[in-house]
Amino acid sequence: MSKDDAWARVAGKGLYPVEYARWLLTPWRGLILPPSRIVKRLGLKPDDRVLEIGCGPGYFSPAAALACGHLTLFDCQDGMLDIAQERLKARGLSNFARAPGDAKALPFTDSSFDAAFMVTVLGEVGDADAALREAARVLKPGGRLSVTEQMGDPDFISREELKMRAAKTTLAFERNFGPRFFYTANFLQR
Ligand SMILES: C[S@@+](CC[C@H](N)C(=O)[O-])C[C@H]1O[C@@H](n2cnc3c(N)ncnc32)[C@H](O)[C@@H]1O
Repeated sequence: MSKDDAWARVAGKGLYPVEYARWLLTPWRGLILPPSRIVKRLGLKPDDRVLEIGCGPGYFSPAAALACGHLTLFDCQDGMLDIAQERLKARGLSNFARAPGDAKALPFTDSSFDAAFMVTVLGEVGDADAALREAARVLKPGGRLSVTEQMGDPDFISREELKMRAAKTTLAFERNFGPRFFYTANFLQR
């Protein structure tokens, strides 16, 4: 992809380009979305098996891996998975696996995970309903899906739209965190 094409993708709707992955790792993000806060909202237990959908370069991944038993990094771009994996290894973490694929058709069996999360991913997937359905499918009954969205992202999905879409799946709304312009909404698989 040319630099101009990549830039158009950062500024516009659609897949976030791996060429600009490092921007997602800027410490400035910590002012609004510190990894510790996002992971706390997931309410993880030490033995939990966790799926990070659209992990990107792994800004949130080390904090999640530290708080759970096993983390699966999932993204449709191998370049993103490479960077996320390096970040975990650099911190001496080994309780993780990586898996490439499409969030609309997750390559995991039903009820595989205790928790799943996605941060600024859902609107990028192309079919948010399918992504929510798939996330629900791979969660164990009682498992938690945590979706974080940030206004300003060209693919932002409002809290109201998210709840409306989730209501069409087997996910039950649990609770909200944060203001409407950078919120997390948690759901429980029935
Ligand atoms: C804006 S980035 C956010 C990355 C990370 N969650 C963060 O907040 O730093 C969105 C990520 O979702 C991934 N993604 C987009 N559509 C996807 C899909 N259909 N299946 C899997 N990953 C997808 C992209 O490759 C990208 O890494």
